[in-house]
Amino acid sequence: MAYITLDGVSKQYGGVWAVDRVTMAIEKREFVSLLGPSGSGKTTLLRIIAGLEKPSQGRVLIDGEDVTDLPPHLRGVAMVFQEFLLFPHRTVRENLAFPLRMLKLPKSEIDSRVEWVLGILSLRGLEGRYPNQLSGGQQQRVALGRGLVGRPKVLLLDEPLANLDRELRQEMEVEIRAHQTDLGIPFVYVTHNQEEALSMSDRIAVVRGGRIEDFAAREEIYDRPKTAFIAGFVGRSNRFEGVATHSGDGTIVHGNGAELRARSHPALAEGAPVTAFVKNEKVRLHPPGATGVLPNAIPARIKHVILRGSYAEYLMTWSGGELVASRPRSEADYREGMEVTARWDVADVDLFKPEAAK
Ligand SMILES: Nc1ncnc2c1ncn2[C@@H]1O[C@H](COP(=O)(O)OP(=O)(O)OP(=O)(O)O)[C@@H](O)[C@H]1O
Ligand SMILES: [Mg+2]
Repeated sequence: MAYITLDGVSKQYGGVWAVDRVTMAIEKREFVSLLGPSGSGKTTLLRIIAGLEKPSQGRVLIDGEDVTDLPPHLRGVAMVFQEFLLFPHRTVRENLAFPLRMLKLPKSEIDSRVEWVLGILSLRGLEGRYPNQLSGGQQQRVALGRGLVGRPKVLLLDEPLANLDRELRQEMEVEIRAHQTDLGIPFVYVTHNQEEALSMSDRIAVVRGGRIEDFAAREEIYDRPKTAFIAGFVGRSNRFEGVATHSGDGTIVHGNGAELRARSHPALAEGAPVTAFVKNEKVRLHPPGATGVLPNAIPARIKHVILRGSYAEYLMTWSGGELVASRPRSEADYREGMEVTARWDVADVDLFKPEAAK
């Protein structure tokens, strides 16, 4: 049986369903991210697991026990927030000890657990400082430590890295994932940042309008998006709108004055409108004309090159609009103003029925 089970959980505020019939099962050693745009219901869902919100409908089970009616402190869960929420007039040590004092643990137990957390989070030497004497990353470590010090059965994290700069965030991603693996408890991690979700998670639940659009392995979410929404939200892609026709073993999308060839997609009716996505990193660049008559080869002009370190993004214009390719810097040197042929494989075109915005 799963370690955390959400069974038909909904939450209504006024007339709005912030969470709408969510059913999901999370395993004991899993790192799960709830990934979705602002207002999609991620925080509400996390707070329902924590017991900080009561669902309007549905049940929450943790470790085999129905906790729907239990208050937060009896659930064995801890939560880490974006705003750190450290006590400004308490030292690091006092901040870490606070949840244990609330549990009225003996002093020796409190001391040994605080020492444990100081050790695993590399906070030794900082225990006498106040929060305003710490860097953002150190403050976030203390907040994480305060979550872990009670040895929770489940750790819930709500955008804990949103206030950190990119480099520090990436370091913390590695650290947080390592702690989760070592502790062997589920982490449920809320973010609107796909990079965070992709870097740490075993599985990602894409949240949209209070519902789970898909819940699958991170590779699955990235490589084989199940809906147009996920294809548009995860990864960086070129998007084309057109109509589908079927030809032999493939589907052709006619749009923006070009023909895109994709793998056969029999669910699309002949002449039906279609949305196609091609990930930026699937678009390759060639000198003009070099690809002969291959499918999915579009003459384009490089308008702008954005250096991203080891790779570059090539922003291009073509007769039907704009295109972006992400290429390793080690590939041939394409510069602004150059004419190229942009090309991608038939298998790299993801097709969906167009959907109304939710
Ligand atoms: N206490 C509340 N009262 C009324 N409406 C609320 C309340 N909390 C959340 N909502 C609404 O519920 C919806 C989901 O909010 P939630 O905070 O869960 O979104 P989120 O996915 O965490 O967004 P963000 O990425 O901006 O943090 C939103 O429409 C929000 O306005
Ligand atoms: Mg939120």
